[in-house]
Amino acid sequence: MTVPAITLNNGTTIPQLGFGVFQVPPDQTAEVTAKALEVGYRHIDTAQMYRNEAGVGEAIRSSGIPREELYITSKLNNGFHRPDDARRAFDETLTKLGLDRVDLFLIHWPLPTRYDGDYVSTWRTLTEFVDDGRATSVGVSNFQPAHLDRIIEETGALPAVNQIEVHPYFTNEEARAASYRHQVVVESWSPIAQGGVLGDPVIGEIAAAHGKTPAQVTLRWHVERGDVVFPKSMRAERMRENFEIFDFSLTPDEVAAISGLDQGEAGRTGPNPDAFDWIPS
Ligand SMILES: NC(=O)c1ccc[n+]([C@@H]2O[C@H](COP(=O)([O-])OP(=O)(O)OC[C@H]3O[C@@H](n4cnc5c(N)ncnc54)[C@H](OP(=O)(O)O)[C@@H]3O)[C@@H](O)[C@H]2O)c1
Repeated sequence: MTVPAITLNNGTTIPQLGFGVFQVPPDQTAEVTAKALEVGYRHIDTAQMYRNEAGVGEAIRSSGIPREELYITSKLNNGFHRPDDARRAFDETLTKLGLDRVDLFLIHWPLPTRYDGDYVSTWRTLTEFVDDGRATSVGVSNFQPAHLDRIIEETGALPAVNQIEVHPYFTNEEARAASYRHQVVVESWSPIAQGGVLGDPVIGEIAAAHGKTPAQVTLRWHVERGDVVFPKSMRAERMRENFEIFDFSLTPDEVAAISGLDQGEAGRTGPNPDAFDWIPS
C-alpha cells in the first residue's frame, strides 16, 4: 500500500497515515513501534507526556530504515510552556529519540488558563527549532479557532498542522474549518474514538457494502476529508487492518452519512481545550 503524502504550508510533506503511540506502555513501545514499522508505517506520533519517546527511538535505530524515509512527531509537555523550559524539553526529546532532528514538533495543549494565558511566547519558541534546523516543521495541537487566530496574528508564523480530536461522533468542524482557513492541515486524533464508533450501524452498513471493517471505513472517511490520521494499536493484525485503507474509496453520500453521525460537544471523548489545564506531576 502506498500512503499518500500531504503538502504542508511550508512546502514539506507528511504521510497521511501514521501510527500513534499514546497509551503504549513505555516498556513495550520499542517492540510495538517495531511491529508498526514492519507493517509499513513510516510516520510515528509520540509526545513527551506519553513518556515513550525513548522506545520510539529504539525502534527507529533497530529498524535500519533510513532516517529520510521516516516522519517523526513529538509534542511539548504541558509543564514546559515557558520558553527556557520548552528549549530544555525539546533538547531532551531529541536525546530520547536519538535524533538530531524531528519532522514535526507541536504544542500539545494551549492551556489558555495557565501561564497567564500566554501560549504565544511558547509558539514563538517552537519556531526557533525550525530556524536552527532541529525541527523540519512546528505546529500546534488542540488549538481552538481563537487560539490559532491569536498566534498567527501576533507572530505571523503559521503552524504546519493543528492536531485535534476528530471522529464521526465529534467532527469538530469549527476547529477544522479555522485550521484549513489558515492553510493549516488537520491531524485527527482518536480517529476511531478509541474504538467507540466501531459498533455504529451506519458505519457497519457501509463497511459491509465495501467488504471492509468499520475501522477501515472510519479511517478512510478521515482520509477522504483530507485530514492526517495515526490510529494506535498494540496488535499487529489491527495495525495491518488500519494500514489497508488505500485500495477502496467511499462515495460522497457515504462520507456525508458518516459526517452526519456528529453529536457535537456530546461526542467529544477528550478534554475541552478551552478549559483543560492539567500539568503532569
Ligand atoms: N494531541 C492530543 O491531545 C492527542 C490525544 C489523543 C490521541 N492523540 C494521538 O492520536 C493517536 C490515536 O488516538 P488514540 O490512541 O487515542 O485512539 P484511536 O487510535 O482512535 O483508538 C485506539 C484504540 O482502538 C483500538 N483499536 C485500534 N485499531 C482497531 C481496530 N482495527 N479494531 C478494533 N479496535 C481497534 C486499540 O486497541 P488495541 O491497542 O488493543 O488494538 C485502542 O484501544 C494517539 O496514539 C496519539 O498519537 C493525540
